[in-house]
Amino acid sequence: VKIHVVPFAGAINRKLIQNKTVVVIDVLRATSVMTTALYHGAKQIIPCLTVEEAFKRSETYAEDSCLLCGERDARKIKGFDLGNSPLEFTPEIVKGKTIFLTTTNGTKALRSGSDAKEILIGAFLNLNAVTKKILEREKLVLVCSGTNDKFSLDDGMCAGAIINELSKQTEIKIDDLGEVLLKTWRSENGNLNQMLKNCFHLNYLKDKGYAEDVDYCLQINRIPVVSEFRDNFSVIIP
Ligand code: MLT
Repeated sequence: VKIHVVPFAGAINRKLIQNKTVVVIDVLRATSVMTTALYHGAKQIIPCLTVEEAFKRSETYAEDSCLLCGERDARKIKGFDLGNSPLEFTPEIVKGKTIFLTTTNGTKALRSGSDAKEILIGAFLNLNAVTKKILEREKLVLVCSGTNDKFSLDDGMCAGAIINELSKQTEIKIDDLGEVLLKTWRSENGNLNQMLKNCFHLNYLKDKGYAEDVDYCLQINRIPVVSEFRDNFSVIIP
């Protein structure tokens, strides 16, 4: 499998992703939230680029059938039902609901991938499930969503972990960034807390009081399913 890594959402290039399998990764916290919400029974997630878009698109839905969720500056948006904390997305709250989600980077990364053959949603939470799903693909692009057009190590280490898992099960051909991430992941033996101790976005979230979210999102293989983003919404795929 040939693997290319994109360092942040703004660096997604239409030509690069055309006809390829793309895995969008935003460990802290968008893709961890999406994976959790769908696993906990949400009907679908509709990623929105702006707060206005989320309000507008939800207008045609019955109020009790959907939830407006997301963040700006890590905090819940005024008038929304939930923020972007995965711990809020419990089965009791999300079961059967359509979720309109807008986040600073993760939802943008998903929406930029429309030229891809398929777009999967990756996180540490579903590392094995994602790896299994992409094992048979020939051309892969791992998109590290990053933070405000900058590379973020949490996403990079998730890409490194995915490449490492793939390398155990198939022959891989990686680009230079993939090489760096794989080596870094292997050098710390998967000790995530050590690897990420200086990660800007992780510390930003901790400073804002979201340490529990960080601990939750760094758990590996807690969730055995993968979701796909297609035709404007995300659902779990078999
Ligand atoms: C994002 O999509 O930018 C992130 O999920 C931000 C956050 O941690 O809430």
